[in-house]
Amino acid sequence: MSPFLPGELAVEHVRTLAPYVPGKPIEELERELGITNIIKLASNENPFGPSPLALAAMQRALTETWLYPDGSGHVLKQKLAAKLGVASNQITLGNGSNDALVLLAEAFLKPGVEAVYSQYAFAVYPIAIQATGATGVCVPALPTSSPMPLGHDLDAMARAINERTRVVFVANPNNPTGTWVDAAQLEAFIAAVPRHVLVALDEAYFEYRADLPIQDGIAWLGRFPNLVVFRTFSKAYGLAGVRVGYAVSHPSVADMLNRVRQAFNVSAVGLAGAAAALDDPAHVEAAVKVAVAERERVTAKLRQAGTTVIPSAGNFLLLHAGANARERFDQLLRQGIIVRPVANYQLPEYLRVTLGTVEQNDRFLRAWLP
Ligand SMILES: Cc1ncc(COP(=O)(O)O)c(C=O)c1O
Repeated sequence: MSPFLPGELAVEHVRTLAPYVPGKPIEELERELGITNIIKLASNENPFGPSPLALAAMQRALTETWLYPDGSGHVLKQKLAAKLGVASNQITLGNGSNDALVLLAEAFLKPGVEAVYSQYAFAVYPIAIQATGATGVCVPALPTSSPMPLGHDLDAMARAINERTRVVFVANPNNPTGTWVDAAQLEAFIAAVPRHVLVALDEAYFEYRADLPIQDGIAWLGRFPNLVVFRTFSKAYGLAGVRVGYAVSHPSVADMLNRVRQAFNVSAVGLAGAAAALDDPAHVEAAVKVAVAERERVTAKLRQAGTTVIPSAGNFLLLHAGANARERFDQLLRQGIIVRPVANYQLPEYLRVTLGTVEQNDRFLRAWLP
């Protein structure tokens, strides 16, 4: 008789979900290989960490962790509203932007409706969609021969929208590809999306756009009431570990997200760190400057050596490693360098490498190049 597995009582769309595969933690590799001096270039974190102002604010917040946080996130929302030029009631805070993406799915999706996303788009979209019982419609990405290889095909995504569609996800730039959509094309796309569909524009890597033609989606909220923009403190702000992100939307959408949001979804430490981080834009600019310069430098070195690198607007690069990508990943691990395999994205021949400090990137290049 087969053993009783109570987990099998879960609803079917959860039983058939493939879980998110995170990057390998440093401690795990230390345990496995007994080596030290490991660098993690696997989760698109900011190697410079948060502003000293954020660190000090978080340390202060630690002394009061017996109290619940401010469930409304009043101070952070006020500061964000002032910085972004929106009203505070347009902002929904999340335990990372992942949480905010899930809130959108919970509030707007259900069995029988559809949500559209691109092949190779951020893995959380199909998970968040399927967990609601809605149907995910995955649209083939642009071919490798395109100027934006593996990127979103906005024309095909527009064609995939029908009367059952409720949300279309656009990652700009996208992870794991690093690709982006041109501002004018995105504008035409959003203008053509029917009013019964929300456009979830994920700008987790917005700060790294440099002079690329990438639109600030928040500036379009007045024109497109069905637009929802997602941002995070996990990347350029260096606060991935404390989990703070947010959605900016029409107030009526924020009102719905707030109804499904857990009352205290962002920790007191996270709220304090994020609010203080906003007072130190120079810290963020300095980290972004290094990442953008390194993006160009590392891309050029890899291409000179014959490695295909997908164009990136983020703080990471997607490399074509070939049929032995898994072996190359293991070789890097043995040298104490953790990058990210993307076989779970059906990209078994590619590896994703986060841009670290100049020294870390040099170490990766020495290990990678022949
Ligand atoms: C495109 C994209 N969106 C959202 C997220 C979620 O980040 P967080 O939940 O840390 O804000 C990530 C994280 O890797 C991402 O790559």
